[in-house]
Amino acid sequence: MPKSGFVHLVGAGPGDADYLTIKAARLITQARLVVHDRLVGRGVMDLIPKDAEVISVGKESDHHILPQPQINELLLKLAMDGRDVVRLKGGDPFVFGRGGEEAMYLAAHDIGFEIVPGVSAAVGCAASTGVPLTHRGLATSVRFVTGHLRENDGLDLDWKSLADPACTLVVYMGIANAGKITEGLLGAGLAPQTPAMLIENGTTPQQRVMRTTLAELPAAITAHCFHPPSLMVIGKVVDVGAVLEQGMGKQ
Ligand SMILES: C[S@@+](CC[C@H](N)C(=O)[O-])C[C@H]1O[C@@H](n2cnc3c(N)ncnc32)[C@H](O)[C@@H]1O
Repeated sequence: MPKSGFVHLVGAGPGDADYLTIKAARLITQARLVVHDRLVGRGVMDLIPKDAEVISVGKESDHHILPQPQINELLLKLAMDGRDVVRLKGGDPFVFGRGGEEAMYLAAHDIGFEIVPGVSAAVGCAASTGVPLTHRGLATSVRFVTGHLRENDGLDLDWKSLADPACTLVVYMGIANAGKITEGLLGAGLAPQTPAMLIENGTTPQQRVMRTTLAELPAAITAHCFHPPSLMVIGKVVDVGAVLEQGMGKQ
């Protein structure tokens, strides 16, 4: 019987390698085998030892992404072969990262694993653009939602509960459906002038930021050609970010 290996489900953060946890950095720099998603930052990838084996399960260049069941199978096989696997995932493994599914699969097959948290895109992008996700008097809560549609499914969001002017809304994977999201929120009563912003490639040298209003969001995405990976932030705190960003970086 081969000795069973171990899988570290590691959050790689939103892009900037400086946002890695110390534990994630230690695992990555000592890795012998890395299985990674396409949204892992270049600086993070550069920390992997040059002689380590690296398996990509999502290549942006040819839009080829290994289906989730095959990723689960791959992790299982590597662990059954006795390998110590660093499974690198963008942001936090348990925030819209399907890390839960991978962990469930490993658990069902009695494979040892651990979860190493990462800075999720919402938190990293907000910090790097000066947006306090909650702010006294402006936002008493924050919600992370996905704007992604499963094939043949509609956007199944509860617009009434999301259209809360005292809540900051962060939409992951939402730019393709920005029209529907805007429509849903406006229809549920959120004010058209609610501040909104887009962050593309947050925390990386390619970061782009655009501020607008909820009503103008879809047109602004088209006009400024925003592409994934991008986040939408909707709420009054966007205006605070516009002020704080001016002061950021001053010594
Ligand atoms: C499959 S989800 C993975 C989220 C990840 N697990 C996390 O915690 O950030 C991918 C989406 O996260 C968002 N995202 C990830 N990294 C980003 C970045 N650097 N800038 C803006 N959005 C990002 C985008 O909405 C992207 O489409």
